[in-house]
Amino acid sequence: MKRKIAVLPGDGIGPEVMTEALRVLDAVADAYGHEFPRKQALVGGAAFEEFGCHMPITTLETCRDSSAILFGSVGGPVNAMNEPKWKDCERNSILALRKHFHFSSNLRPAKIYPSLKHLSPLKPEVVEGVDLLIVRELLGDCYFGKHEEFEKNSERAALDESEYTESQVKAAAHAAFQAARKRSKRLCSVDKANVLTTSRLWRAVVHEVAKEYPDVELSDMLVDNCAMQLIMNPAQFDVIVTTNMFGDILSDAAAALPGSLGLVASASLTGDGFGLYEPPGGSAQDIAGKGVANPIAQILSVALMLRHSFDLEQEATAIEAAVETALSRGYRTADIWKKDETAGGNVPSQNQKAPVGTSRMTDAILAALAEHVEKNARQLTAAST
Ligand code: IPM
Ligand code: MG
Repeated sequence: MKRKIAVLPGDGIGPEVMTEALRVLDAVADAYGHEFPRKQALVGGAAFEEFGCHMPITTLETCRDSSAILFGSVGGPVNAMNEPKWKDCERNSILALRKHFHFSSNLRPAKIYPSLKHLSPLKPEVVEGVDLLIVRELLGDCYFGKHEEFEKNSERAALDESEYTESQVKAAAHAAFQAARKRSKRLCSVDKANVLTTSRLWRAVVHEVAKEYPDVELSDMLVDNCAMQLIMNPAQFDVIVTTNMFGDILSDAAAALPGSLGLVASASLTGDGFGLYEPPGGSAQDIAGKGVANPIAQILSVALMLRHSFDLEQEATAIEAAVETALSRGYRTADIWKKDETAGGNVPSQNQKAPVGTSRMTDAILAALAEHVEKNARQLTAAST
């Protein structure tokens, strides 16, 4: 297979983890006989320096001309959010891309790696077996409504308008039902229908769409309860579908379960398979350029791209298995190593090694990938003789 990919490393740790993810993509291409020609483009603060804007037209053209977008991260240091280079950076880049290409749903998987169970902020017995997927609607809600600052009764006031259309809810609902069909056939729709009109529309439309998926069991949950359930009993969930804002918040909560944002990836999809793949963990400016960032989230974004945009399930699974193997062998970047240390005396020593940097972590994943590919090839040969 030959597919062109737009690569947008962005800011902070984006470029360094992207370099590593592309090594993994190259290894998969070699092993399975694919070609993935790439074009890099600037976005976020990196683009602002060169073009004076966060989303140059040339970057949009590069994306339009590709079969998928591999995105790093954008945004500046927390204390510099009002500098021109960083002001509205996220809104102008990642939100603009979502709107421009109509990425209507966002898939955010979170699972507990057996070898990292002790890293979860929750007790190992609570997170045992957690493997869930949050499907977040991506184009509605208060993200793209009117944003206004004004004066009311002589004091400052602000407004973010929240709106949903039926077709927006339908798009996310279909994505979620289809994902649930491939998993345990259970879907939980999360809203705030006891208060919000947008949530009432949400619930009604999700139930209408459910009629097309009689094999999937649908339940509803209010968002405040869901936040609590994700902490009390996260293993009860398989697929969750929810609105833009609730999905933003709940997916970060779910991403905390495995122990680090550096372990989770996400896919933003249109209805017809075009996708943007990114780690939702942010640009982590505090550790940028030090070679210590965890590359796993970006590497898993490559796996999601192979699965959702190119239908290469075997290749995607190979990457995921390689990540799991490298972790089970004790390779840890600092974000998932320090916590082992601070967890006190209850930490199973595993076979944890000293913390490794971004590229050594990738070396370990590449080694595991090569073994995985070889083992599969041996099994195939054995089966055919
Ligand atoms: C995410 C991020 C973005 C969002 C920000 C950077 C605008 O938090 O992808 O979850 O809120 O959607
Ligand atoms: Mg977020």
